[in-house]
Amino acid sequence: MKAKRTVGLIALLASMSVFLFAAESMAADPRNGAKIYNIHCANCHGSNGAGAMPGMPDFRRGQSLFKNNAFLVLVLEEGRGIMPAYRGLLTTQEMLDVIAHLRTFQ
Ligand code: HEC
Repeated sequence: MKAKRTVGLIALLASMSVFLFAAESMAADPRNGAKIYNIHCANCHGSNGAGAMPGMPDFRRGQSLFKNNAFLVLVLEEGRGIMPAYRGLLTTQEMLDVIAHLRTFQ
């Protein structure tokens, strides 16, 4: 009975550490995001996030960023209007990094 409980506890701790590790690796890095932005996004969205063409979202205002990360990752995966789809070009982690960078514009 006691041994069983110990095994259960070890299994629980092991699964928790896997979860914590996964959460750690998913933490967004806005500095890496800035590099990706300058390569892939700045041409259209402007280096300051204001948008280089009329009718584009102004990231400094943030209204396009009220949407949550999961939604914005989907937008990047699928593209929008003339914006290309980034599925296969950027990893989910890179998309989260670049979204974290978008949230730094002001
Ligand atoms: C070819 C030009 C172009 C490139 C490159 C581009 N975008 Fe866009 N993006 C647009 C346009 C245009 C819109 C507005 C689309 C619409 O609403 O129809 C937009 C919209 C968005 C939105 C708002 C989506 C929403 O639903 O509110 C986000 C976020 C975004 N872009 C992020 C990015 C990121 C991050 C990159 C680089 C990985 C990028 N874009 C690259 C043109 C571009």
